[in-house]
Amino acid sequence: MVSYTLTSIACLALGAAAVPLNIADLVGGNGGNGHVSLQLNIDLGQDAFAANRFGGGDLFHFTSTHSIHALPENVVNDTTPTGGLAGASGIFNFGINSHANMICYNITLHNFQGEFESPADTATHIHEAAVGKSGPPRIAFPNPEPINEDASIRNSAGCLKGPFLTGVIMEEKDTGEGFHVSQIEANPAAFMTDTHSSLALPGAVRGQLA
Ligand SMILES: *[C@@H]1O[C@H](CO)[C@@H](O)[C@H](O)[C@H]1NC(C)=O
Ligand SMILES: *[C@@H]1O[C@H](CO)[C@@H](O)[C@H](O)[C@H]1NC(C)=O
Repeated sequence: MVSYTLTSIACLALGAAAVPLNIADLVGGNGGNGHVSLQLNIDLGQDAFAANRFGGGDLFHFTSTHSIHALPENVVNDTTPTGGLAGASGIFNFGINSHANMICYNITLHNFQGEFESPADTATHIHEAAVGKSGPPRIAFPNPEPINEDASIRNSAGCLKGPFLTGVIMEEKDTGEGFHVSQIEANPAAFMTDTHSSLALPGAVRGQLA
């Protein structure tokens, strides 16, 4: 039998899915003093695998999160404001795990119109571009799809793990090639997120990561 503080139990619960734990029961059963006793059977083989694969980082942990309100008035073609797609807006939520070179996304668009259109594999991106400027896409996300019959709200959510490919070739290589999400964390102001419509090719809505 071993004794752990509640904090370490919470961490173990995340890392060891094979151990069913109910923190409330444990606390209740022990007078709520923050200490519990239990037997653990930790699969060290699996831990070693995780450590190798993700460089010692915890896959179920974001090293940073970013929530961006994307608007049409932020869209530029080169450096000229275009006005984007009037009436549209977007909430782009990202969770980055720089140990795993992984980015999770939950993108909601309101009042998108036209068709998604871009030379890239999809029309929804993170570009390397400072505010008011244009730059290459580094990550292409699945385009948000209507979440019910009402196409005025669209969503796309999931996770992507590098190596990244955008489908856009510049200087003979894909603009996602070699990209690592830690570059976003190092300088979020150098990145923006957007989505492109056939009715607003330079961008429908856009927002800076910082
Ligand atoms: C995405 O974010 C919205 C709120 O903006 C939330 O309602 C929804 O549950 C989230 N989806 C996922 C898969 O996390
Ligand atoms: C951006 O502006 C240039 C110069 O006016 C124009 O030739 C080009 O078609 C525009 N690009 C888009 C995607 O609208």
